Amino acid sequence: MTSSPPVLLPSRPSLLDGLAHAALARACAAFRQSGSGESGLPPVLVDATLGNGHDAAFLLTCAPPGSLVLGVDIQPQAVRAATARLEAARQARPDCRVQIFCRAHQELPQIWAGLPPEERQRPLLGGIFNLGWLPGGDRACLTRADTTLAALDFLLERLMPQGCLSVHCYTGNDGGPEEESAVLRRAEALPPRRWRVVHCRDANREPAGGRAESLVLMERLPVSRRRMQAADGPQAEGSGA
Ligand SMILES: C[S@@+](CC[C@H](N)C(=O)[O-])C[C@H]1O[C@@H](n2cnc3c(N)ncnc32)[C@H](O)[C@@H]1O
Repeated sequence: MTSSPPVLLPSRPSLLDGLAHAALARACAAFRQSGSGESGLPPVLVDATLGNGHDAAFLLTCAPPGSLVLGVDIQPQAVRAATARLEAARQARPDCRVQIFCRAHQELPQIWAGLPPEERQRPLLGGIFNLGWLPGGDRACLTRADTTLAALDFLLERLMPQGCLSVHCYTGNDGGPEEESAVLRRAEALPPRRWRVVHCRDANREPAGGRAESLVLMERLPVSRRRMQAADGPQAEGSGA
């Protein structure tokens, strides 16, 4: 008797989501090692496209102690699904606070401004975007280049050294190629002395009209003591202070 081959489910997270998670876990590990810099406060992590809550649950598992995890999604259906998924992760991390907003991510400046003052002072350690539509939801409600860029710009400006932003792009979506190009143009313009930018894409799928996905990772480089001293002038650099 021949046994049928086992049915394998698609592995989760996907390869690109796994890379995104690894990059964010790296930022969290760096924070644990070197601390929050001047503020001494625990960090904020943002899931700008909360969806079904997989990425936010991951952020919560690797968040440094006392972190604030903000999740944003424009659809009530996503907020409900994510709230349910995050239940267990929340219980496992009682030291962290999770706040979910049923709002558009281009409203992040207003969302941030509405946080209690002590939370607004916290450093931003990471942010994740998984673009497109909600799996199992309304495919007409999907992210758009202009609003994605507005949210990304807000997070780029706030990101702390050693922090990381990740954007998972889908060229198979309506407007997906334009959205990926817009994100890439923004990422490519980041100064290399201050930022490490990596673009990882499907190599065996057609980007135009196809189903290619890609991941844009933006890591803010730590400012070395030497460079800070150089910025203060040649005397300070040579003084060993
Ligand atoms: C691919 S799903 C995100 C998957 C999610 N990160 C997860 O782990 O399950 C994309 C989500 O972006 C949301 N979205 C679309 N436009 C948005 C906007 N302007 N602001 C916030 N969320 C938006 C959709 O409602 C959808 O839930």
